[in-house]
Amino acid sequence: MDILEIKDLEKLAKKRVPKMFFDYVNSGSWTETTYNENVSDYSKIKLRQRVAVDMTNRKLNTKLVDQDVSMPVAIAPTGLTGMQRADGEILAAQACEEFGIPYTLSTMSVCSIEEVAKHTKKPFWFQLYVMRDKKFMERLIERADKAGCSALVLTLDLQILGQRHKDIRNGLSTPPKFTPKHIYQMVTRPKWCFEMLQTKNRSFGNIVGHVDGVSDLRSLGSWTSEQFDPKLDWNEIEWIRKKWKKKLILKGILDSEDAMIASKTGADAIIVSNHGGRQLDGAPSSIKVLPEIVDAVGRKIEIHIDGGIRSGQDVVKSLCLGAKGVYIGRAFLYGLGAMGKKGVSKSLDIIKNELDKTMAFCGRKNVEDLDKSNLYVEKPYSNY
Ligand code: GLV
Repeated sequence: MDILEIKDLEKLAKKRVPKMFFDYVNSGSWTETTYNENVSDYSKIKLRQRVAVDMTNRKLNTKLVDQDVSMPVAIAPTGLTGMQRADGEILAAQACEEFGIPYTLSTMSVCSIEEVAKHTKKPFWFQLYVMRDKKFMERLIERADKAGCSALVLTLDLQILGQRHKDIRNGLSTPPKFTPKHIYQMVTRPKWCFEMLQTKNRSFGNIVGHVDGVSDLRSLGSWTSEQFDPKLDWNEIEWIRKKWKKKLILKGILDSEDAMIASKTGADAIIVSNHGGRQLDGAPSSIKVLPEIVDAVGRKIEIHIDGGIRSGQDVVKSLCLGAKGVYIGRAFLYGLGAMGKKGVSKSLDIIKNELDKTMAFCGRKNVEDLDKSNLYVEKPYSNY
């Protein structure tokens, strides 16, 4: 099968990853309206084609939070990445390192911060949830610092968990309820099982062994479900800003008033995000709110975006609307589930190639020059 677009990797991943873990990636909360609109809203945005513009020597490299990147794309933090493929976080981090873009490791990853650091040479980014156990959070911040992580991505939109029907039906709740149906889903993916049996990384690596009383999946399940902190407020961010001296990125901003507050916290960037449509269903897509957030705080703080990005064209559209950086989640997870590290590299190649060609067709040679003027604005008579 020719792998030409992210959809091809998705089809392959579906065949190789046990259903409950594939569904974990391929789902949003409640009716999945926001999850779907994250993707469909990108297709409503049209680009202006320009011709007879010198397209030689194009430049995709730039900086995200002052760090060099080969294209303005980073890998988003995603929970349970090591269940798409054994050692998934290590494989994805290595692919990013070779590609020259940041990898963001989730708190809820299977491979621990230390495991990923041991198998990579360049700094990666670490994502943190605000948890009730402040001592544990403090230790996570210290561990990320010690492992050489160069940015902390603080998630603000997960004080409580959105209701995801596929996960509940698949028994992927906390604690997980494994039935013969789920065992069957795993054994019918023999390569996945074989690789999983070869690794020690099969639980939440950042948590097990670092919290008293959490030793097995059941105790871990109840600990995590109680840990997200519903009390989180902006004072907490001030506390974290003091503890973490390197780059700080606030993830989950979807409203211009919140963006204004975020821009005054001393953070280096915000990520316009609805958590991939996994939290508040009925919220607007990320790309829909990007322009108003750029208008509100674009001069005060660096703006990144995630949600619905499945192609290099989506990256171009995000940049045109004012984002400096774009994160991919599902797009790389499909690659990982389909073909491991090679698949993650493939997903990045696909996006880079589409980004480069689209930029050229728009008459631009430098990603940093893409702006609103590259978008086609419909005229009243354009329906004819
Ligand atoms: C974790 O952040 C999730 O959305 O499952």
